[in-house]
Amino acid sequence: MAVILGISGSPRKGATEFAVQEALRETEKVPGIETIYWSVRGKKIGYCVHCDACIRRNSMCIIQDDLQELEALILKADGFIIGSPVYDMNITAQLAAVFNRLRPMYLVHPGHLQNKVGAALSTGGTRHGGQEMANLAIINYYLMHEMLVSGGLGGCYNGGTVWTRDNKKDGVLEDAPGLDTIKRLGMGVAEAVMVTEHGRAKWEEMKKDLGLIEDKSPLRDH
Ligand SMILES: Cc1cc2nc3c(=O)[nH]c(=O)nc-3n(C[C@H](O)[C@H](O)[C@H](O)COP(=O)(O)O)c2cc1C
Repeated sequence: MAVILGISGSPRKGATEFAVQEALRETEKVPGIETIYWSVRGKKIGYCVHCDACIRRNSMCIIQDDLQELEALILKADGFIIGSPVYDMNITAQLAAVFNRLRPMYLVHPGHLQNKVGAALSTGGTRHGGQEMANLAIINYYLMHEMLVSGGLGGCYNGGTVWTRDNKKDGVLEDAPGLDTIKRLGMGVAEAVMVTEHGRAKWEEMKKDLGLIEDKSPLRDH
């Protein structure tokens, strides 16, 4: 089975939670895919304080809170759909904190995220309120971790973009074109995950035959 992890960066039960779950439901239409959902809602997540303990100790973040449960899920995932409400044309502070705190992934689990598929979606109260900007923040996080990005099937551009009019789940359901991008994002990710899962197995064989050395280069330095 391939596992797709959906993450909502919204602190409430609203549009983003519904949109991420809707995208996950779409991926589940592909046999061989199972999904996990995780949200920042109700979670205790501290900020990165740049103590650099992770770098010195070669460990994940030493702050003990609800982030550890997410780390465990990330290690199980073959694909990611991360969604955020648009806050000031960007992702939420909660989601940014999650990203910051996951900084040492490259040290502790080198290559783990490499070539895994990630996709972004966002929900904004305004039609053009910064959804594409919020998606970019998520996409940049994927790129930083050597991941591959799916923007969804044609017409989604850089991911799912919903205009909610601040109306939570009903806002998503009332924005038919936005809801369409969520579904097409889900299907695009499912397809990309299946392709990469098969390609990864083949590539591992080829790497052995070619005698290629594992990339543990200093380029992994921050
Ligand atoms: C602090 C804050 C900032 C916001 N900034 C924006 C914004 O820049 N653009 C926008 O379209 N909507 C903005 N919104 C509205 C939310 O993005 C919108 O209601 C979203 O769908 C909420 O998602 P949720 O129901 O999952 O929490 C903002 C809301 C809050 C609370």
